[in-house]
Amino acid sequence: EKGGYDYFMLKEIAEQPKAVADTLLGRIDAAGSLTLDELRISDAELREVDKVVIVACGTAFHAGLIAKYAIEHWTRIPCEVELASEFRYRDPILAARTLVVAISQSGETMDTLMALRHAREQGSKVLAICNTNGSTIPRESDAVLYTHAGPEIAVASTKAFLTQLVACYLVALYLGQVRGTKWGDEIHAVIRELAQIAGQVEQVLETMEPVRELARSLADRNTVLFLGRHVGYPVALEGALKLKELAYMHAEGFAAGELKHGPIALIEKGVPVVVVVPSPRGRSVLHDKIVSNIQEIRARGARTIVIAEVGDEAVVPYADHLIRVPATPTLLQPLVATVPLQVFACELATARGNEVDQPRNLAKSVTVE
Ligand code: M6R
Repeated sequence: EKGGYDYFMLKEIAEQPKAVADTLLGRIDAAGSLTLDELRISDAELREVDKVVIVACGTAFHAGLIAKYAIEHWTRIPCEVELASEFRYRDPILAARTLVVAISQSGETMDTLMALRHAREQGSKVLAICNTNGSTIPRESDAVLYTHAGPEIAVASTKAFLTQLVACYLVALYLGQVRGTKWGDEIHAVIRELAQIAGQVEQVLETMEPVRELARSLADRNTVLFLGRHVGYPVALEGALKLKELAYMHAEGFAAGELKHGPIALIEKGVPVVVVVPSPRGRSVLHDKIVSNIQEIRARGARTIVIAEVGDEAVVPYADHLIRVPATPTLLQPLVATVPLQVFACELATARGNEVDQPRNLAKSVTVE
């Protein structure tokens, strides 16, 4: 049932192009507009939304962090993202016009369920983004947008994450579409790009051998750091989480701009640092800033592992290892940039002799608070 793969995780990583395509299927019409009739929240209600609050745990929380960038950029609706386990204990401000989005692969995560119950008690509408048909979270929500990743067996989330991102982009773009923000043209262009994204994920998968080799060469290390800016920051957090849960290594993700506020003290000779570099096109300020961050850490001895778009030559002089990903609009880059980090963690876990599909101390769905 592992389809010829040694682990479910490898199979699920390989299934990502299909999972992404399936999640888009039937949701973009011939004219390039989105149709999300299944949402069960009317366009009129969506036009009234004045705040979006996302609640989730673990990897799903990272999808939520990325969604915030997309939602605020494409819709101009303020968006907060909160760990579900923290949410109801801080007396959050919720109202009828607040749209709460609960993201969960399993649909059974107790922290997320308790957060959404709290939101509904306060009169907010809850939209679930979920991978498991008929599970508790969608059943208790006002509306649901299913991800179509298929069953995810490995404890470490991979294809569910990519499809959660797709679903979040769909929600953001749909909100933008029904509200008719000034980003209309950009929204259409992004919908076209999204329709191509499965092929780009496939391209990344075809070039992963050097990443596996690199992972094996780091098997005896204790620490790996991850840096990113903008949506690359949650990607860095996700890369670090994958490494913690699979390789049992000290792994931490930082916003690259925070380096000088503390974490740069961790950089010493030979420490591997993975840097997620945004596209040099468009927001070049962001790109320039991260290139100087790479220079800073390399000058202090870091071994730099750079994930950058094809054709980005500015990073070449400072990259000890260069991992190329296809060119995408910055907001969509997490769909391609996360894949090498999944492969990296999986291979490192294998090299360290760890149980890939069933890491120690973890359960696939956490049904206690
Ligand atoms: O089923 P959920 O998406 O609600 O699960 C949330 C987290 O427990 C989950 O993403 C966890 O962090 C994964 N093991 C990460 O790979």
